[in-house]
Amino acid sequence: MTLVRPSAVREPQFIQLHCPDAEALRTELSAGLCDQPARCAPKYFYDALGSRLFEAITELPEYYPTRTEAQIFERHAREVARVVGRGATLIDLGAGNCAKAAALFTALQPARYVAVDIAVDFVRGALNALQRQFPAMPMVGVGLDFSHTLSLPAPAQDGRPVFFYPGSSIGNFAPDEALAFLRSVRDAAGGGGLLIGVDLVKPTAILEAAYDDALGVTAAFNLNVLAHVNRLIGADFRLSQWRHVAFFDPARSRIEMHLEAREATTVRWPGGERRFVAGERIHTENSYKYTPRAFAELLVAAGFRAPRQWLDPQQWFAVFWADA
Ligand code: AVJ
Repeated sequence: MTLVRPSAVREPQFIQLHCPDAEALRTELSAGLCDQPARCAPKYFYDALGSRLFEAITELPEYYPTRTEAQIFERHAREVARVVGRGATLIDLGAGNCAKAAALFTALQPARYVAVDIAVDFVRGALNALQRQFPAMPMVGVGLDFSHTLSLPAPAQDGRPVFFYPGSSIGNFAPDEALAFLRSVRDAAGGGGLLIGVDLVKPTAILEAAYDDALGVTAAFNLNVLAHVNRLIGADFRLSQWRHVAFFDPARSRIEMHLEAREATTVRWPGGERRFVAGERIHTENSYKYTPRAFAELLVAAGFRAPRQWLDPQQWFAVFWADA
């Protein structure tokens, strides 16, 4: 009989740094809704249902980014591992279910794993499960809005920092914001680097289908933000009055998503209201698409050195590594 001492069983550490406070959130949301044109930040997509709808999106035939990125990592795992180096502290930004990072553990052999998400509860279940698969690896879950600050708590600062930002989430930032964000990553990644997934410019029909799929999952994902806002600020959006709009703007190299009023309507919430005419829109998301050259230049402008890239054969998606 083997005796397992409790001290031999590692547990992830969980730290919540930034608690989104209800008042700030109300102010931000009502300001956006009253703006001309009205807007609502994409972070509000991700309530419990929204997160599941996003997972469904990643399985749609039209939504190529997730599977294309996974193929790139599979195909180039050895080379990626060689440039990243073993024994890193892998810091996963927007870790969610931790699946993308976990898929790289065997190739990358990190010494430590830090899963960062806006709410530590988003990573709790996944990190506990991952700890059982990799019992020897120190793991930390951090609740932090990393778009505001990247100063990580002490247990996440040990070792050589390798930041992991997959899925082309960088596409939600406008280029100037992306530059500022990448600079803050570089400052936090000294001696290590950044492994990042970036969606690329491609024919408009392919891009637009990815954001307006035949099943209507992306439409549901977009509309669900109104149900979330109703709960957050007590608004009275009626979802049937709105429709999903998505298009590629080649001049700005971005997909735009909007919700468009099918008819004139007034939306009310405690402390505010907004009248919409028929056809008026709420801007809910931008998803910027880069050329490989433009993104490499952005990394260099942010202070990274010697970016290198891996693309899929169709050149639809890119994974970049850059030394900090
Ligand atoms: C999670 C921001 C990378 O822009 O493709 C998917 C979000 N929106 N379908 C993207 C999204 C509509 C996604 N990111």
